[in-house]
Amino acid sequence: MSLIIDGKAIAQQIRQEVAVECAKLKAAQGVVPGLAVVLVGHDPASQVYVRNKKKACEEAGMVSFSHELPADISMVTLLEQIDQLNHDPRVHGILVQLPLPNHLDSQRILQAIAPHKDADGFHPYNIGLLQIGTPSFRPCTPWGIMELLRYSNIDVAGRHTVVLGRSNIVGKPMASMLLAAHATVTICHSRTVDLASHVARADIVIAAVGQPAMVAGEWIKPGATVIDVGIHRTTSGSLCGDVDFSTASQRAGAITPVPGGVGPMTIAMLLKNTLFGACHCIQ
Ligand code: GUN
Repeated sequence: MSLIIDGKAIAQQIRQEVAVECAKLKAAQGVVPGLAVVLVGHDPASQVYVRNKKKACEEAGMVSFSHELPADISMVTLLEQIDQLNHDPRVHGILVQLPLPNHLDSQRILQAIAPHKDADGFHPYNIGLLQIGTPSFRPCTPWGIMELLRYSNIDVAGRHTVVLGRSNIVGKPMASMLLAAHATVTICHSRTVDLASHVARADIVIAAVGQPAMVAGEWIKPGATVIDVGIHRTTSGSLCGDVDFSTASQRAGAITPVPGGVGPMTIAMLLKNTLFGACHCIQ
């Protein structure tokens, strides 16, 4: 039976550490970290994520500024809104929840966020810093995964890590972080031929494919570490990840559950980015 990596407990510890740092910052400089959360439209999953992010913020002693905008908002109006937040001294981090409605150019919106307030670490400037090995704001999910591995004493240096998925949010920054930590990295994606054979060679598998239970337990090398980024509602109403947990947990040395694995870490790292923004604020 494998070690079940308790992301909820690790995230809670990080959140407490952030809360202590927030209190120190307030006492020393009178600065209260502020996160502006921008939600466009009424996607139910996004509404839940945004609510959880705002709650975590407040629990850590930060302020959250909520901007719930209509689904048919124009590019110009949304860009104006972001510009206001860029210039608001109470705001140290800005997050625009993705996905955005199709008529909006997501890349243009993300690039409009001031790089020094980029709570998600998605701005090309911050992606570039990560890529050259001098990170500033970091994408929260892959950063959270690196912390899960660190807290679980799983060293990635020299190990073969296989990342399933090549999104800008998870797959690509995950590969950069693993590489910076001296892992050997393979990235697989929807066009990869014989996915199973790649997974079978992995010491560490990071599954971010967005398809329920797509990674079969039989693919996993015995003793490997399995990190599951997916979260899906099954027809029976329960939650599952991208990995078939029941079979994979028979073979893995360590595995993250869904829920309670990667998800809570994303929020914890968002708080760390916001605190970083407040500590390095340039206005
Ligand atoms: N949608 C799914 N994951 C994320 C995330 O980490 N940040 C934002 N802004 N939107 C998301």
